[in-house]
Amino acid sequence: MTNPESPPLILALPKGRILKALRPVLERTGLEPAPDCLDESSRRLRFPTSDPSLDVVRVRSFDVATFAAYGGADIGVCGADVLMEFDYSDLYAPLDLGIGACRIAVARPKNAGDVLPEGRSRLRVATKYPAIARRHFASRAVNAEIVHLHGAMELAPALDMADVIVDLVDTGSTLRANGLEEVETIAHVTSRLIVNRVALKTRPEEIGSLIERFRAALAVAA
Ligand code: PRP
Repeated sequence: MTNPESPPLILALPKGRILKALRPVLERTGLEPAPDCLDESSRRLRFPTSDPSLDVVRVRSFDVATFAAYGGADIGVCGADVLMEFDYSDLYAPLDLGIGACRIAVARPKNAGDVLPEGRSRLRVATKYPAIARRHFASRAVNAEIVHLHGAMELAPALDMADVIVDLVDTGSTLRANGLEEVETIAHVTSRLIVNRVALKTRPEEIGSLIERFRAALAVAA
């Protein structure tokens, strides 16, 4: 039951390829954001929806979890990669939306000999996932030095900045185009519906009904 006194709930959606994949799911939920929400040339960041008790904010995919963890958004759509990287305890991820499937992988230059060059005791890893990469190599007792980049890490090995990269791989074409090969999968990734735990406690009916709308939209697609 919506309380007309309550401010609208905020749903955080990621920019980019997940937003495109989300379009049919959103249509099936019946939550219609203003048309320019799905048009990335629009500079607006916050959008009303067909439901006056729900607004959408459009943010970087890497920031969705942070918006939701800090309560800026009550609910959001976020890659499992981002959840793994930040590991926020304030978030609950009730639904796997099954979109945006890809993997987090370790890749290195094709036909590379010994990965660790002579005279160096630490493996240099270029990645936008410092926590995931650190955990992964620590679990293999590999001493890793993280080179934190926000994009184009496929360039790093050829430019002698790193020995390997840890990045998202979907079709593998970015790796191939840059002379790299995948050597290990760290995790399989899909997008999740995430919820701020405090919001779920304070507005359980509204958030519960939103989760159910997403669940029903997935059931229709199955
Ligand atoms: C991701 C990832 C790779 C690429 C992999 O980047 O970082 O660069 O996609 O996809 P592929 O295996 O199909 O080639 P994205 O395009 O999402 O941009 P980003 O670098 O801004 O994250």
